[in-house]
Amino acid sequence: MTQTEMPRTILTLLFLVITARLDEAQKSHECENVATSQEGLFDNPERLKILLKVFEKHIEMEKLNITLHFLENPIRPNVQISEAARIIAYYLEESCEENNWVHGKKVLELGAGLGFPGIVAACLGGNVTVTDRPQIVPYLQRSIDLNIETIQKISGEIRVEVLSWGDDEKIRSMPRQDIILLSEAIYDDLTIDDLISTMVRLSHDDTKIIVSEGDWIEMEESELKEAWTKFFHESSEYFEFSPLPIGNYDCFTFEGKVRKTSNTEEKTSESSPGHTEF
Ligand SMILES: C[S@@+](CC[C@H](N)C(=O)[O-])C[C@H]1O[C@@H](n2cnc3c(N)ncnc32)[C@H](O)[C@@H]1O
Repeated sequence: MTQTEMPRTILTLLFLVITARLDEAQKSHECENVATSQEGLFDNPERLKILLKVFEKHIEMEKLNITLHFLENPIRPNVQISEAARIIAYYLEESCEENNWVHGKKVLELGAGLGFPGIVAACLGGNVTVTDRPQIVPYLQRSIDLNIETIQKISGEIRVEVLSWGDDEKIRSMPRQDIILLSEAIYDDLTIDDLISTMVRLSHDDTKIIVSEGDWIEMEESELKEAWTKFFHESSEYFEFSPLPIGNYDCFTFEGKVRKTSNTEEKTSESSPGHTEF
């Protein structure tokens, strides 16, 4: 371990312990006691600031000529930027360089976590809604707050909304979208029907979908395989997915085109029978 790595490692361990303790305490409603027992740290904003710096991510987007800022939580994978999110974010930046296909479009990010792809879409001039479950939304909002000046300078629009897949009332209140982004959110067999129905009901005939998965290499061994197989199978009536030739060897990205939405006729004659109607 080098001399510069040492303090970082110590701070990381310290933060892990404190965050784990706080999470535990939040669950058992002991927050006040914990705040007291960690008094030294939490009473000293300067020390806390240094600690938090370890988890700041400053990501340069060279083509857009901007730097984006995020704050990750080391023990919550949902509050970290996944490889798949990076792949989508860079793909948006790169593919829009010659012909900006995101500008002015309604963009929806589902299961956004820290919202990196959605924020890049807003920086490309998209009209973006980044969404996640209620417990993740405060983290998502923090990402927007950290980057709002950059987004507004470029005149992008972005808003954070709670959207749990399959939430009928919420989905009814939302417009159909031109672009839907989804990174590393297909892993739970049980949520796939709700995810697909949400995508179908928020798509129109020309909606473009980008989905990405970072743990592809582990797919053979894990339940991820089941989830993705189910996702492709169940969604095939509504979307046609093809691989996008981007990313590294263990990260896969697909582009989806609409075959059929919830209120339009089938676009192609090929459809797989026997799937759920949304
Ligand atoms: C592994 S994280 C990925 C976060 C982010 N997209 C990324 O790639 O960095 C999966 C995300 O999907 C969200 N998610 C899972 N099930 C969901 C559901 N039923 N409704 C809405 N969001 C969901 C989680 O809250 C989480 O933020």
